[in-house]
Amino acid sequence: MKVLVIGGGGREHALCWKLKRSDSVREVVCAPGNPGIAADARCVPVGAEDIEGLMALASDEKPDLVVVGPEAPLVAGLGNRLREAGFAVFGPDKAAANLEGSKSFSKRLMYEAGVPTARFEVHVDVDEAIETIRSWGAPIVIKASGLAAGKGVIVAQTEKEAIDAVRDMLAGNAFGEAGSQVVIEEFLRGEEASCLFIVSGDTILPLASSQDHKALLDGDLGPNTGGMGAYSPAPCVTEAIADAVLKTIARPTVAALKKRGAEFIGTLYAGVMLTDEGPKALEFNVRFGDPECQPLMSRLQSDLGEVLLAAAEKRLDGVKLAWKAGAALCVVVASDGYPGSFEKGQTIGGLDAVEAAGTTVFHAGTAEKDGAIVNAGGRVLGVTAVAESVGAAQQTVYRALNELDWPGGFYRRDIGYRAIAREES
Ligand code: AMP
Ligand code: GLY
Repeated sequence: MKVLVIGGGGREHALCWKLKRSDSVREVVCAPGNPGIAADARCVPVGAEDIEGLMALASDEKPDLVVVGPEAPLVAGLGNRLREAGFAVFGPDKAAANLEGSKSFSKRLMYEAGVPTARFEVHVDVDEAIETIRSWGAPIVIKASGLAAGKGVIVAQTEKEAIDAVRDMLAGNAFGEAGSQVVIEEFLRGEEASCLFIVSGDTILPLASSQDHKALLDGDLGPNTGGMGAYSPAPCVTEAIADAVLKTIARPTVAALKKRGAEFIGTLYAGVMLTDEGPKALEFNVRFGDPECQPLMSRLQSDLGEVLLAAAEKRLDGVKLAWKAGAALCVVVASDGYPGSFEKGQTIGGLDAVEAAGTTVFHAGTAEKDGAIVNAGGRVLGVTAVAESVGAAQQTVYRALNELDWPGGFYRRDIGYRAIAREES
């Protein structure tokens, strides 16, 4: 079959890489793609948020399956448009994508469905929000309700910090429309894990467990980012915990959506806090995690094209996934200055040597300039290895990264440390 993948980041590179290695797939086309993806797919310069351009592309290319990588086009209704035009689509319709597009919608749905999650209130009024902050006390969590590229969540250690955050969002317009409603949440303690599911109607197929590192700096310090590294499996997600997440979080959420007339087809990503009282949902995404997708695709043995087409055509029931034993780990190399501003167009050398040392280099924010690969975004590369354990995969990646020739790039030196501590004990 011919597959059209929408997006151009590290997640989409991992998807194209795996699709190209699927027996069921003859051709992969990617819009817009990036220079790394160009090794695995034919890239077409149509932006992932250009809904009309993507519709025209689909009607020209006539793919047998469209896989939508990022959340923004899903929240904008690309899934609906493509399905109405008769395409098989992996990615939810707008109504179900609201699970990620609106945190207030998502939290209310969780509450109605009895999904374990942090206590919350939704506010549009600054004074009422401040009253809640004063009565609950700190630490407390403030979230812009709409899409904010992972930047709209403030885990406030003091009441003042929380009050400043709601003022910024509600009165200061810090996140525009996305911050016109805020969700105030009880602070949960525990270890976080990423629990992803391929969903098609009533069928929910769990993927292997994974974990990412959202903080910028070693020791999980510094500001939150889109993710500085990830690995699979996550040893903290025992079989019993995975089962509890499926039964108490994924199933009731999918059922509650259906009750509202929103059938889910795509990836349901539950960000979960493993608390003393059991797993609690922090948030939902309606797509693969980035960078979780990179280690997951590196470990997946099944034919990805077949699985995603089965989901799109609502015949996922009975499909089983096979995974490579051992573990996979991805370290993100970012532009110095990210998540703030940085200089673009710096030449990145040594990529072949990094791969020759036993890794796959997934491209995210790269571009080509005069025949060289240069940085063009904040998160630039996802260097990924598969090995017999998280610890062994980590060693392979960091050894390979010694071959990277890019003085303006930086990466965390401790990706996987929690899993490795568990492996060693
Ligand atoms: P979210 O986008 O909602 O997953 O939030 C981003 C990050 O903020 C999460 O990955 C957590 O590290 C943190 N976070 C979100 N909600 C809570 C909460 N209720 N308690 C503690 N930490 C949270
Ligand atoms: N790695 C977190 C996310 O994809 O949202």
